[in-house]
Formats: sequence, C-alpha cells, structure tokens
Amino acid sequence: MSNRRDFLKNGILLAGAIGIGTRALQAVPPLPSAAVDDEAYWKLVRAQFPLSHSRIFLNNGTVGPSPYVVLHEVQQDMLDIETTGRYGGHEDTAIKALSEFLNTKDTEISLMRNVTEGINVACWGMPLKAGDEVIMTGHEHVGHATPWLNRSKLHGIVIRVVTLGKTAEETLNNIRNTINKKTKAISIPHIPCTIGQVLPVKEICKMAREKGIFSMIDGAHPPGMLQVDIKDIGCDFYAGCCHKWMLGPKGTGFLYVSENMRDTLQVYYGGGGFDNGWDMLSNPPVLKGYINNGHRYYYGTQNASLFKGITKAIEFQNQIGRSRIEDRVRQLANYLQENLMKLSPDVEMITPTESISKAAQVSFKIKGKDVTKLQAQCQEKQITTRYVAENNINCLRISTHIYNSFKDIDAFLLETDKFIKA
Ligand SMILES: Cc1ncc(COP(=O)(O)O)c(C=O)c1O
Repeated sequence: MSNRRDFLKNGILLAGAIGIGTRALQAVPPLPSAAVDDEAYWKLVRAQFPLSHSRIFLNNGTVGPSPYVVLHEVQQDMLDIETTGRYGGHEDTAIKALSEFLNTKDTEISLMRNVTEGINVACWGMPLKAGDEVIMTGHEHVGHATPWLNRSKLHGIVIRVVTLGKTAEETLNNIRNTINKKTKAISIPHIPCTIGQVLPVKEICKMAREKGIFSMIDGAHPPGMLQVDIKDIGCDFYAGCCHKWMLGPKGTGFLYVSENMRDTLQVYYGGGGFDNGWDMLSNPPVLKGYINNGHRYYYGTQNASLFKGITKAIEFQNQIGRSRIEDRVRQLANYLQENLMKLSPDVEMITPTESISKAAQVSFKIKGKDVTKLQAQCQEKQITTRYVAENNINCLRISTHIYNSFKDIDAFLLETDKFIKA
C-alpha cells in the first residue's frame, strides 16, 4: 500500500511539472500485483509521459514516446557534457542493462543507432556468395528489405520470399518447405511492421540451426512489448531498437551477435573501439585484430547521453514490471481486435486471432473503403494511427502501449464505426 501511495504522490507531482525540469519524476515504484487491471494505476503511468493529453497515440510501432525520466536523464547528461567537456561514458552501463533486459552476455551486444544499422551489419557480414539463398517474408520493412536487396544486387544473393501463415504452424511449414540446399540464411522479422503478427522465431531458429543456416531476426518491435529472451530464441543475430516499445531515446538500438558467430560475421567498417590494436608506422601498416566483444561492430564518437537514456528506459520498464507491461498491451490489443470484428462484417481482420501469433498491434481493412480516409478522420480528432502501404498490404495498423487506455481504444472504435456507417 505504501508503494501505491508513493506512486500516487510522485505521479501527481509529475502531472504538475512543466517540461522536464528538476521536478520530473525520478522513479516509478513497483506496484502490488493486482495492478494489471487497475485503471487508476495506468492513468498514473500515462502521467509519466509528456505526450500531449489531448492526443491518443496509437502508433508506437513507428516510434515510442519517452517518459519524463528518460528525457530528463538525457537532458541532464547533455548539459554535463557541454559544461565539463567530458568525452564519452555510459556505454558499458547501457550494454550491461541491455544484455540483462534481453538475456544475452554483455559481450554479445553492439550499440547501434537504429534497427536498420544492425540489420546492415549482420546482412553484409554473413559470409555468403553469389547463388546462396536467403529466406525472407512478404511483410518486410524497408530497413530490413533493402539491405538484402542491395546485397542481392551487388553480390548475387538470391532472396526467397515466403508467405506468412494465419497460424504459427503454417508459417513454420511455409519456411520449412522453402529451404533447400542453397539456403544459407533465414532473415525474418520477429513481428513484422505490417500486421503485428508474432512469428514462431524460436522454432524457426531451431530449424535453421539444425540445418546449418544463419538465423537473423529483425527485432524492431518486440523489445519492450514482449519479454524478449534472445538466448531462448536461439538466433545468431537479432537487431532491435530502443526507440519504439522500449520508450528510449530516438536514434538508439542494438545488434546481438551470438558469441559463437563473432569470428564468422565479417567486419566491414573500422574505427575507434573496434580493434585490438593497429600500427600505421610498421611496415606494412597493420590492423592487429578485432576486439573480442560487441564493440567490434561499432566505432567512433557516440552520443553518450543517449546511452544513459537507454539505461533509464530499461529501469523505467523494470519498475513497472515487464510481465505487467506485456499483459497490459496484450489486453488492450485483444479488446481492440475483438470489438473491431464485432463492429461490422465488413471489417477484414488481417492480424491473426491465434493468441501465440499476436501481441500489441492490430491491422485491418474495411471492405469497399479506403482506410487512409479513416486515418485522416482520426487524425482530425488527434488519434494517431499508421497506414501500411508496404508490400501493397494497404491496411490500418493500431499499436497499443502502456500510456494507452481502454478509453483510447473506445475513441478509435467510435471513429471506425462512424466511418463504416458513413
Ligand atoms: C519491422 C521493422 N524493421 C525495421 C525497421 C527500421 O527501424 P529503424 O528506423 O530503427 O532503423 C522498422 C521501423 O519501423 C520496422 O518496423
């Protein structure tokens, strides 16, 4: 009960704060376990975000708003850098926090600026030759599709596109049936940007491992939404970001490279921090080797304050509780999916209804209607959604996160109902 009282006190203090000054909330105390269904609790969580109170933000899949604590941390550290001339810092702490959050070794995490960067490092680093095949899906984001398309163009790698099934089993079978002797990599999203379908990545990676095929996961969405456990997934490479569901600073991400792939994944960019020594004065000049941790894949001057923000974002999530976050975002999305399907037989639900194949995103179309018009109608009411034009899917995608409420979902359902009836 005292935790609850502290939380209320802090929440109210914060709600009164203007901007991200010193009055910003410093910590979110853990709550009693009953809190998943406690709307008052989630209202206080909502108060931790500067996100305008008149906005209903249902597009976390593009970018996640940060809470005050993260902004405050980054702001304070940037100020420290500018006032002291300090160089770097906070990298090891961020890596440690990320590795604990994702269940990896800290030596397996490389700091990246976004998912695309991590995907590029893994895509270009895999030792492949012309004619080798890579399995992908028909639901890729530009940040995952284009590095491979470019490698295909420059190196003659062949991309095989599989269809996603309506169930995890069907997707697994589609991938199994596409594998042949030339398949050298499976590079797929954990959750595609299009329809929020959760792919059976653990089973896919197991299949890849048994056949000696590289497994690469585009993990733009799950960290911060699901309790991602990379060791349990068993992939070789996993690229993610901290600026979507983790609610961290924009322009932050990571690449996981499994320890046993470190000497297999070729390094194409060099720079400060990636090496094990170099000498331009020896004859011939020499690079003595690569550092034996994730720093092998990034280099040079970084924005240290953003690293501090990553650690704070993880702390924020841990304070609320990762299972509580996952339960809440799933509850909201399930409520949305069920009620959308009840609205009208014209609602074409594209996100699977199988529980293991969905999480916090719901995508749908409306028969005979252009959903970009629904998106525009919602925008007028300050409801932000995402139209999915990728791969000609042409649907509307709704994302649910911890700052959303059932009231937000009801407001969106009301607009959709009006749109269908108009
Ligand atoms: C599935 C997926 N992959 C990759 C990306 C690219 O992410 P980033 O902008 O962090 O590079 C996104 C971004 O929305 C995405 O949804």
